[in-house]
Amino acid sequence: MTGPTQTFQLSVEAAEAYEARFVPALFAEWAPHLVAAAGVVPGQAVLDVACGTGVVARAAADRMGGRGRVVGADLNEGMLAVAGRLRPDLEWHRADAAGLPFEDGTFDAVLCQSALMFFPDRVRALREMARVARPAGTVAVQAWDLLDAQPGYGAMYAAFARHLGPEAGELGGTLWALGDLELLGSLFEAAGLTVTGTRTRAGTARFGSAAEAVATELDATPLAAGIDQDTRRRVLDAGVAAMAPFVVDGGRVELPIGGHLVTAVAPG
Ligand SMILES: C[S@@+](CC[C@H](N)C(=O)[O-])C[C@H]1O[C@@H](n2cnc3c(N)ncnc32)[C@H](O)[C@@H]1O
Repeated sequence: MTGPTQTFQLSVEAAEAYEARFVPALFAEWAPHLVAAAGVVPGQAVLDVACGTGVVARAAADRMGGRGRVVGADLNEGMLAVAGRLRPDLEWHRADAAGLPFEDGTFDAVLCQSALMFFPDRVRALREMARVARPAGTVAVQAWDLLDAQPGYGAMYAAFARHLGPEAGELGGTLWALGDLELLGSLFEAAGLTVTGTRTRAGTARFGSAAEAVATELDATPLAAGIDQDTRRRVLDAGVAAMAPFVVDGGRVELPIGGHLVTAVAPG
C-alpha cells in the first residue's frame, strides 16, 4: 500500500478498513513468519516498528503466550487507535521510526513489516532499530520483492500506470523499492547491523473478487482521492481485466506476492 506520501495521517475509519480488508488479504500471512525469523520466544521484550494496526505485534504476543513485553510504534494515530482497540493489553506509541522514544538496548527483538520502503531515511530508521535493540539483539525486516518478480501486482500496476500516468508508476516504485537484496543488505550494513539470514518466500494475497483486489489496492494509495468517477471506472476496469489470470474458483483472486525476510544482529 501507498507510496511517497505514506506518512499522511489516516482517519480511524480508513485504518479500520485497512485492518478489515488489507490485513487478512495480505499482511497477516507474513507476520508469523517475520516473528519466527526473529526467533521471538516467551519472556522477551519485542518492538514492532511502523506497526500499523498491529498485526506483527499480535503475532509476537501469540508466540510469547502472554509472557514478556510487546510494544507497537507508528506515526499514524488512526492505525494506533485500531491497534489499541484490538489489543488493549499491548503497548502502543505514536512515534516516527527516525526517532524512536525508547532507551538504548530496550528490546530483545525489533521487527518491521512492509514499512521500511516508505521511510524517507531508511538507514536512519535501521540505526534507530539497532539502537533500541539490546546488544547482540535481533532486528528483522520484511520487504516486498521487486515489481518485476510480481506477476500479479506487476499487471495491476501496469494497468494503473496506463490510466493514471507516471505518478502511479512512482507509487509502485516505492512499494517495491527494497526488492533488490543487495540494496537491502547494504542499508543494514550502513546502519551498523550484521545480516544473519535472508529468506525470500512466496506468499498469496487473497481477495473475494478481481474488483475487490483492484479497489483495495487503489484505495490504499493517495491516487484514489485525486481522480474523477470516469477515470476511476476506467482504472478499475483495466485492473480487473489484468487480474484474469489470477481468478480462481468462484471468482476469487489469488495473487502471488514475493517478499524478503531479513534478520540481523545489533552490535554486541
Ligand atoms: C503498509 S503499512 C504496514 C503496517 C504494519 N507493519 C503491517 O504489517 O500491517 C505501513 C505503516 O508504516 C507507517 N509509517 C510510515 N512512515 C512511518 C514513519 N516514518 N514512522 C513510523 N511509522 C511510519 C504507516 O503509518 C503505516 O502504518
